[in-house]
Amino acid sequence: MSTPYPRIAGLKDYQAFTEHLKQSNIEMPGDEEVRSGSDSPLGKPLEVHGRTIGNRFCILPMEGWDGTRDGKPTELTRRRWRNFGLSGAKLIWGGEAVAVRNDGRANPNQLVINETNLSDIASLRQELVEAHEEAFETSDDLMVGIQLTHSGRFARPNDKKRLEPRTVQRNTALDRRAGVTDDSAILSDDELSQLIDDFIVAAVAAEKAGFAFVDVKHCHGYLGHELLAGVDRPGRYGGSLENRSRFLREIVEGIRGATQLEIGVRLSVFDYVPFCPGEDRTGVPDADAEPHKVFGSTPDGLGMDLTEPSKFIQLMHDLGIRMVCTTAGSPYYNPHIQRPAYFPPSDGYHPPEDPLAGVARQIAAVAQLKQDHPEMLFIGSGYTYLQDYLPNVGQAVVDRGMADSIGLGRMVLSYPDLPADVLRGSVWQRKKVCRTFSDCTTAPRQGIISGCYPLDPFYKKMDERKQLQEIKKALANPA
Ligand SMILES: Cc1cc2nc3c(=O)[nH]c(=O)nc-3n(C[C@H](O)[C@H](O)[C@H](O)COP(=O)(O)O)c2cc1C
Ligand code: SF4
Repeated sequence: MSTPYPRIAGLKDYQAFTEHLKQSNIEMPGDEEVRSGSDSPLGKPLEVHGRTIGNRFCILPMEGWDGTRDGKPTELTRRRWRNFGLSGAKLIWGGEAVAVRNDGRANPNQLVINETNLSDIASLRQELVEAHEEAFETSDDLMVGIQLTHSGRFARPNDKKRLEPRTVQRNTALDRRAGVTDDSAILSDDELSQLIDDFIVAAVAAEKAGFAFVDVKHCHGYLGHELLAGVDRPGRYGGSLENRSRFLREIVEGIRGATQLEIGVRLSVFDYVPFCPGEDRTGVPDADAEPHKVFGSTPDGLGMDLTEPSKFIQLMHDLGIRMVCTTAGSPYYNPHIQRPAYFPPSDGYHPPEDPLAGVARQIAAVAQLKQDHPEMLFIGSGYTYLQDYLPNVGQAVVDRGMADSIGLGRMVLSYPDLPADVLRGSVWQRKKVCRTFSDCTTAPRQGIISGCYPLDPFYKKMDERKQLQEIKKALANPA
């Protein structure tokens, strides 16, 4: 079965795109004309923490599963970060998820930040900054942070194929997927206190490596995000929102005591229950889902309710945090919410809605939160599915104050110079537009490094591309 929604590449122009939105009752702002130069809303600077961020494009964190076994960057990692610098975006949100210690790695090739890896991670940042300076003369208005993570129930620190989950509470649907059968995977309060110390030590290293801020990751079902949903967890870190946010509060307090760094949070601002393939492989809610353990959802787990996320953002504000990089859901259990795509990853399901509805949902959530917290700086995510119309929608969003910055994920893997092209008014390079083939997600799920195999000439010629094609073929036609 193929996805029963029109492909964006098949829509003839912006008019056809807006016509399709209208017919599908999907509300989304958009400008017919994308402006460039000094007239461009996307080119306007932002002020935060006494610094200037030169424009409204942000590169979202994206790991490549391509570090060394001891957590150092390789040449592939460095190439990706240089491309981030060359993009022209003036805010780099973390580059990629970097584990604060080994058991928190999402895969055995994830970067780890510690004293041993310090100079390698510092030079990774430096290469990004130098690439940016060469292309755009100055990095005075470039802000680069690093994303600190513990992968919680999605940790695979030692073997690509073996989950070694550390969770905060039992969860029937997710425990089944992660192979959790008893309480031994649950981190005790003392273990969480130790982990908080590890985040603080990691932040100290990040400051030494030259980063302007650290992101204390709270998204995508990883540990910080799962804690926010820990309503059934007893003790200091579970139950009330006050307890569920203690992890962030204690990390922030520790980082403030030990560094001069600014702090940001990448937050799944809403979530849905886990989905799985239904009869025709279209996504359906998992029958074992426990909707009360979903952060930012309606009671049935199938709609967004921003009440608690908004309180959490207020808490961030009270802690002196100003930057929220928004996202939603999880790439593991509800990818259509998190990264709308036409072609699902190999372990996914066909989208149960027009992926544009997923994009619109994230835009609407952020607009609501921005209205409620005007002093916070909001970065939006999930725009890649807009493809050729990303600049039209992104421009309208920032111009209307619905978000402060437009985050770019997959699009920057296939079309790294998109921000520079849009801001200069250069010719749109259609061949580079990400068509959401999901190979950059499928590859690592199959133990292969991530990259844009269909469109990036560098990855196109790698042996891994053939390997991936064969795996995809075998998965599509099981014997
Ligand atoms: C290959 C890949 C790796 C990713 N790695 C991370 C990560 O390390 N940290 C994170 O917060 N999000 C990660 N994401 C999610 C992206 O930051 C982004 O939220 C998502 O792709 C949706 O944005 P887009 O529509 O522009 O792609 C990753 C996404 C992809 C495709
Ligand atoms: S592999 Fe390339 S085209 Fe496919 S989703 Fe990733 S970035 Fe986009």
